[in-house]
Amino acid sequence: MPKSAKQKKTAVGGKSLSTRSVHAGEPRRKYADSLMTPIIQTSTFTFENSKAIEDYTKKGKEHFEYGRYGNPTAKIAEARLADLEGAEDCVVFSSGMSAITTTILSLVQSGDHIVITDDSYKKTLEFCKSYLKQFGIQCTIVPFGDYGILEKAIKKNTRFVFSESPTNPYLNVFDLVKIKEIADRHNVLTLIDSTFSTPLNQRPIEFGMDLVLQSATKYLAGHNDILAGAVLGRMELIEKIRNLHKSMGGLIDPHCCYLLLRGLKTFPLRVAKQNESALKIARFLEDHPRVRKVYYPFIESHPHYDIAKAQMNGGGGVVTFDIKGNVSKAKRLLDALKLCYIGPSLGGVETLITHPALVTYYDYTRKERYELGITDTLFRLAVGVEDVDDLIEDLDRALQA
Ligand SMILES: Cc1ncc(COP(=O)(O)O)c(C=O)c1O
Repeated sequence: MPKSAKQKKTAVGGKSLSTRSVHAGEPRRKYADSLMTPIIQTSTFTFENSKAIEDYTKKGKEHFEYGRYGNPTAKIAEARLADLEGAEDCVVFSSGMSAITTTILSLVQSGDHIVITDDSYKKTLEFCKSYLKQFGIQCTIVPFGDYGILEKAIKKNTRFVFSESPTNPYLNVFDLVKIKEIADRHNVLTLIDSTFSTPLNQRPIEFGMDLVLQSATKYLAGHNDILAGAVLGRMELIEKIRNLHKSMGGLIDPHCCYLLLRGLKTFPLRVAKQNESALKIARFLEDHPRVRKVYYPFIESHPHYDIAKAQMNGGGGVVTFDIKGNVSKAKRLLDALKLCYIGPSLGGVETLITHPALVTYYDYTRKERYELGITDTLFRLAVGVEDVDDLIEDLDRALQA
């Protein structure tokens, strides 16, 4: 366990994050004395008799009714995630995007306005920019890191400010202290997509953020084998989101919840290793003669190093770097890798590398890409849990190719 995570022990109360990742949210005695959380694979639940129905409908006795309204395995995943994030409550979804879109739709109505930073996940921006308009909701996109412009963009009908931290691919860090002050002055909610940092590296709720969004597909599940999402925050907000979720229906299935719970058991171990390896790789790349620039929040050259050090416990598992040369050199690097897989996700146990110009922004013109800072020679490395020296050897050989 890294020192920083230990320091947070008192801040989140109770046992350490490692222990809670294994046990939080589940009863000690489980069905059939099983050690593992059972997968309750059912679409519907039954009532023993009419009294049981009325106890549930009229007296509010806890009972499951229908799969879209809740499931015991999902409930345990929600309790564990809420515990790790230090949030009152949580709803899990079938994907990170389902969590984001359902959350946004539950907070706005026609005539409202929202503010979002321009460095947010491509699909989140697309949703806010294009789809919300159809429902009469205005959206102002502000440049990431300019808190003056952000504050000026807030209007009387602004419901929330949405941002991410760190962002993709440059790992820009959003100043949570500043945004909290601005949000309080204008009485707007703050929503933070904390996928790249996870509750081990950043604790937005402790900075006063209202809602935290997670693509649990990434570090939380951690094995590149499921899609999942979560929103976490105060009970009254989460209840509102849960209600819309029941209608929108972006449900995660019980087996996926089980895989999420299993992944969470090793989440602090994995992320601690990923923090450590990514930092070592970032320093290696910074010294490499074939590399033009490295972006990692915990190296001194990163523009948001000071904010990152103040609000994060670790720099995370993603390292972005730009190599010298041109697109054919970039392709040669990809083709020479033997250990790192070429793929677009992050946070899993396998190391993945992506070339944003060839994948995420393939449909942009070169000019449009360069305006966003996506050069022909930019790579995003999502570090897994392999031996760091093996990864460095693979990267070094590919860089020399
Ligand atoms: C920061 C961020 N938020 C949200 C998402 C969407 O998550 P999902 O793919 O689980 O829908 C992603 C996916 O890459 C992401 O990187």
